[in-house]
Amino acid sequence: MLVRLLRVISLASVVFGTDILRLSYTDDKKDAIPLGTFEIDNTPGRNVSVTTVDVPNVQVSGHYCLNAQIEGKLDMPCFSYMKLETPLRFDLIVDLNDDNEVKQVLLSYNETNNAIVATARYPVVGPSAPVAKLKKRTKTYADKKASKNKDGSTAQFEEDEETKELSWFQKNWKMLLVGLLIYNLVAGSIKKQQDTGSGQKAD
Ligand SMILES: *[C@@H]1O[C@H](CO)[C@@H](O)[C@H](O)[C@H]1NC(C)=O
Ligand SMILES: *[C@@H]1O[C@H](CO)[C@@H](O)[C@H](O)[C@H]1NC(C)=O
Repeated sequence: MLVRLLRVISLASVVFGTDILRLSYTDDKKDAIPLGTFEIDNTPGRNVSVTTVDVPNVQVSGHYCLNAQIEGKLDMPCFSYMKLETPLRFDLIVDLNDDNEVKQVLLSYNETNNAIVATARYPVVGPSAPVAKLKKRTKTYADKKASKNKDGSTAQFEEDEETKELSWFQKNWKMLLVGLLIYNLVAGSIKKQQDTGSGQKAD
């Protein structure tokens, strides 16, 4: 009878797109003691909703590991270590991605609650820094020496690398320019010679 009932329940969850989230805490004997069972309705085309199925009346006082599990989908042993004190006034926040998959859960104290209350949460756009181009500052040898003297550390490594990359062009741009001038000069005189040469032939 029980087996049939379980089969019906698991079939129903496949059909209607629901997951069962189990929240528990681990006591000193390493036993996982249930704190709550919640149903996550993630039927496609709708926003996910989380409802409480069962919140057992547990008496706790102390620091414990919290565990969350959705069979076959999510396993978060000891996702948080916190002080639990009856009555449990918490929000259980179920973090979802845009495909309605549970990515993470967290427990957050909320003094207006009388029990653990579950809510679904979608990712929000975080604050973004204004786009500002960082000005590249070229360090001179004296700068580098000074900063090394200041903290004498390898923290300047990255900046030093950048200085190296920058300074190849800075050291060599004059040579490049001279090279270009010489090339123009030589190319120009060759052309001149050719021109006068052909001119002489034409004569
Ligand atoms: C789902 O949630 C978003 C934002 O929370 C809302 O804008 C949208 O209307 C909701 N969709 C449905 C079908 O409830
Ligand atoms: C605490 O719970 C209340 C009632 O559910 C809710 O309105 C409020 O936003 C929650 N507070 C925080 C900080 O999430």
